[in-house]
Amino acid sequence: MTGKHLLFVCLGNICRSPSAEAVMKGKLKTMGWELLVFCDSAGIIGFHSGEPADERMKKYALSRGYKLTGLSRQVKPDSDFDRFDMIIGMDDQNIKDLNALVRNENDRKKIFRMTDFSTQKIYNHIPDPYYTGNEGFELVLDLLEDACNGLIVHLKSENRLELKNERLKNMT
Ligand code: 4NP
Repeated sequence: MTGKHLLFVCLGNICRSPSAEAVMKGKLKTMGWELLVFCDSAGIIGFHSGEPADERMKKYALSRGYKLTGLSRQVKPDSDFDRFDMIIGMDDQNIKDLNALVRNENDRKKIFRMTDFSTQKIYNHIPDPYYTGNEGFELVLDLLEDACNGLIVHLKSENRLELKNERLKNMT
């Protein structure tokens, strides 16, 4: 696996995207891939910049073994579209907002939706839990755990393709 850089994006970067980052990091660590895939998260809005994750989200994530330690930051289009291979939004509005930030078609190709990788196609977005009750936070974690499994399958198949192309290149 050649190094991959993934940026998870939601609206405020205090609930869904920091959780996606933590869930993905947890799964990568279990696989021994934590140095091969770099994960970060950011928000469309800068309203919560510098703040830790939402206390409720932190509590529910921790109960599943995921520690949310980062501070919120806003997406920085000029550096993030260069630094990251995949920029993964949580819902329709995130995808729309990210598409409005692209500088060119190459940037646009880096935008994905988290639920593209879901194995259980029940939700086509990760619902914003900010104004919901406790079950909203559990649902976010359920959906993220499933989508991260699918994302790992995607990374593995991409890796196989890259290795194959590399071998073909070396043969010619
Ligand atoms: P997130 O949740 O996008 O999953 O971090 C939200 C956090 C804050 C706000 C909205 C959603 N807000 O309006 O401040």
